Amino acid sequence: MNQDQLKKMVGELAATYVKDGMVVGLGTGSTVKFMVDALGQRVAKEGLNIVGVPTSDRTADQGRHLGIPIKNVDEVDQIDLTIDGADQINADFQGIKGGGAAHLFEKIVAINSKRNMWIVDQSKMVQTLGSFPLPLEVIPYGSQQLFKRLAAKGLKPVFREQNGQRVLTDSKNYIIDLHLGEIKAPFELAQYLNRQVGLVEHGLFLNVVNTVIVGYDDGPKVLQA
Ligand code: A5P
Repeated sequence: MNQDQLKKMVGELAATYVKDGMVVGLGTGSTVKFMVDALGQRVAKEGLNIVGVPTSDRTADQGRHLGIPIKNVDEVDQIDLTIDGADQINADFQGIKGGGAAHLFEKIVAINSKRNMWIVDQSKMVQTLGSFPLPLEVIPYGSQQLFKRLAAKGLKPVFREQNGQRVLTDSKNYIIDLHLGEIKAPFELAQYLNRQVGLVEHGLFLNVVNTVIVGYDDGPKVLQA
């Protein structure tokens, strides 16, 4: 199976975990896109009655287009289940997210969710986090100074660009990626990053996920964290 087929497989399986009446956090990314498609089909065919809380403008647009009722995170009482992708997951079920520049809203939705499920293809499962660059969402004002501090600490920051322009998040912030290679102490790093002024949110998702569905060539595996 190619990577897209693995993503489709886990996306479609994840959609079966959604029950009538649920408020569902909808993540962002190419894997979640398959899941939202499958949810849209269930809404159309089964009359599944749900509310979707999207984590990006992209996912909100997709959900609305498919007829999934969409609400903002502040318009719901609580979120029953959030289904999202991830960039890397280690053996302790700690993760890196934000490859799609959506980790700020993803983390807000995740921490307000009773349960969190991540859906990934097998390439995302690693022993140690960090070969995937760690995304930081930063306020543009003062970001050059923040960049210098991160560089001086040896964290190898790079402003994320697309077509020669700095990438802007849905909140009109920049992304700085830390090219660390290996993150030996994710909790310590998270504590340091949490203290940096102007850094809105980092992509370390620690002790967040409850269930991971991994797509392997011989089928999906459901892991409980
Ligand atoms: C969005 O910012 C990310 O956190 C995504 O959830 C993550 O990058 C996974 O995306 P893919 O499913 O496209 O790999």
